[in-house]
Amino acid sequence: MKPDISTSADIRILIDTFYEKVQTDVVIGYIFNEIAHVNWAHHLPIMYAFWEFLLLDTPDAYRGNPIQKHLDLHQKIPLKAEYFDRWLSLFQTTVDELFEGPMADNAKFRAFAISETWKPKFDGPFAVKSTT
Ligand code: HEM
Repeated sequence: MKPDISTSADIRILIDTFYEKVQTDVVIGYIFNEIAHVNWAHHLPIMYAFWEFLLLDTPDAYRGNPIQKHLDLHQKIPLKAEYFDRWLSLFQTTVDELFEGPMADNAKFRAFAISETWKPKFDGPFAVKSTT
């Protein structure tokens, strides 16, 4: 039986493992590495805070504007539906590898809900236009 997600240390393991997969992924890895040139030492703590805010009921953990970050990125590379599907699949695989229980299910559901909400903003008939 795997543990459920319950502490900030759990979030850290989840996020570190997820972004290890993202960085080497054939579909979306290059967006992070070669287009956004993500500074991982800077980005990972932001992502710990974001997921703590969502899952561990710490309202002050994250204050940011994630949609705006992705709108900026969308001007460098159009964010296609298939990228969101890949992002979600990597996230859900990572959760399943490491954790199980109600909070693990909640993490997968939140990732699904955000990804599905964002996807049509970037790809589809009502999407924000990309200049690239
Ligand atoms: C197509 C799929 C995605 C790609 C390619 C992508 C890429 C990126 C990149 C490159 C950054 C760093 C931006 C920067 O610091 O300049 C970023 C930030 C971030 N992403 Fe994503 N992302 C994707 C989907 C998602 C989804 C579905 C979520 C939420 C569940 C998410 C949550 C975040 C958050 C919270 C940040 C930090 C924003 C901040 O700095 O405050 N991303 N993303």
